[in-house]
Amino acid sequence: MKNKIKTVWSKRFKGKTSKSFQRIGSSINVDKRLYEQDIFASTVHTQMLIKQKIIPTNEGKKIINGLKKIKSLIDNNKFVFEEKYEDIHLNIEKKLFQIIGPAAGFMHTARSRNDQVVTDFKLWVKASTQDILKDISSVMRAIVKKAEKNIDTVMPGFTHLKNAQPISFAHYLLAYYEMLKRDKKRFENNLNLLDESPLGSAALSGTSYKIDRNYTAKKMGFKKATDNSIDSVSDRDFAIDFLYAAAVCAMHLSRLAEDFIILNSDAYKLIEFNDSVLTGSSIMPQKKNPDPAELIRGRVGINYGKLNSILTIMKGLPMSYFKDMQDDKALVFDGHDTLRDSLTMSYELINNLKVSKDRMHKMANQGFTTATDFADYLVKEKNLSFRESYGISSSLVDFAEKNKKTLDQVSLEELKKFYKNLDKNVLKIFNVRNSMNSKKSYGGTSSANIKKMIKKYKREIK
Ligand code: ARG
Repeated sequence: MKNKIKTVWSKRFKGKTSKSFQRIGSSINVDKRLYEQDIFASTVHTQMLIKQKIIPTNEGKKIINGLKKIKSLIDNNKFVFEEKYEDIHLNIEKKLFQIIGPAAGFMHTARSRNDQVVTDFKLWVKASTQDILKDISSVMRAIVKKAEKNIDTVMPGFTHLKNAQPISFAHYLLAYYEMLKRDKKRFENNLNLLDESPLGSAALSGTSYKIDRNYTAKKMGFKKATDNSIDSVSDRDFAIDFLYAAAVCAMHLSRLAEDFIILNSDAYKLIEFNDSVLTGSSIMPQKKNPDPAELIRGRVGINYGKLNSILTIMKGLPMSYFKDMQDDKALVFDGHDTLRDSLTMSYELINNLKVSKDRMHKMANQGFTTATDFADYLVKEKNLSFRESYGISSSLVDFAEKNKKTLDQVSLEELKKFYKNLDKNVLKIFNVRNSMNSKKSYGGTSSANIKKMIKKYKREIK
């Protein structure tokens, strides 16, 4: 052969591809991660071509066997991926020619790389979403386990990072359970939306072969085939939704990490971590720093970046396929890897977290955190309006602040200066644990509520 075939299109190409473009335009170093999906989809496609008598059975069988061999080569690290064959699809096709000869030429009947890549990519997102869902569930289970041990642990609840009202540490942790539960739903929504097979849309217009798209869709585990071939090859919503779900989840983990950093700081000292998740300083011998939490907090930036990038790449793309979209995979792979690392670190942090219950209790009693409870007491027991009792409680706080007392250090006699008709029953109002347990409204922080919630969570996450 004069023109030694290098690329599948080399017949019409007179000059060689520029070296620098070959390196920059090739995606093999990224999309080789799709090899399992690519081989699976090609196998199903070939089975369909045989069934529909579009290609000879013999050649089809050779293709399927060849693909099997290629998979085992890649599995065992014996496959050399080559930049000059651009991407995973052409690397595999090239290898197939080397293994089975001209029969390989039948494989690409009735398809294009345009529907091939989006099929592979959807299959990858489906499988990887399952991994993420498992990782999120592990963090949720770790939260429930830690919460169960801290139902009665009173801590200061903050608003504006100022002491607000006493809460249970378990209740605080379980707030993150709820956030992660929504994250799972976001990923699951995407799974539902993307559950349509694009294979058979070919380049953009469909194909004149009598293919069976329903067969390939079902065999690959999709609910159905997509309805519009042009949309099929140009749609990357599933990648955007995936990166959006990842960004929101990473944001939640970042908030948890920031909470941990604050609660662990020397100013608060409300939680500690085992050495396994801490690092020291190269100069300050005393330091033990919660680096994993800082990485989780910082890396949300990576997840936001990937989402922003894909939204920008897709903006203004006319129909249908353009090479712009080739970079979608690096974004999704990085977003996926970053999120899973953050989930792993969150899991480890929660499991290695130690609670300083005494300090928490003490801090929960600072900053007049039961001032609202006193106002509520006057409303309920003395029939005052809330605004009136709010005023009385404000004066009490002023008094306590001036006299450097916590509210539970104010005596009954002193209290009576603010509201005459009081007896010793009022004193229990200023106990932070009583305050916490009085919040029995649905979803509130009372230990009775939390116990019920934990039961429910354990059922849904087992
Ligand atoms: N590597 C390509 C990508 O990821 C595959 C599709 C190529 N299609 C094409 N018409 N050049 O987008």
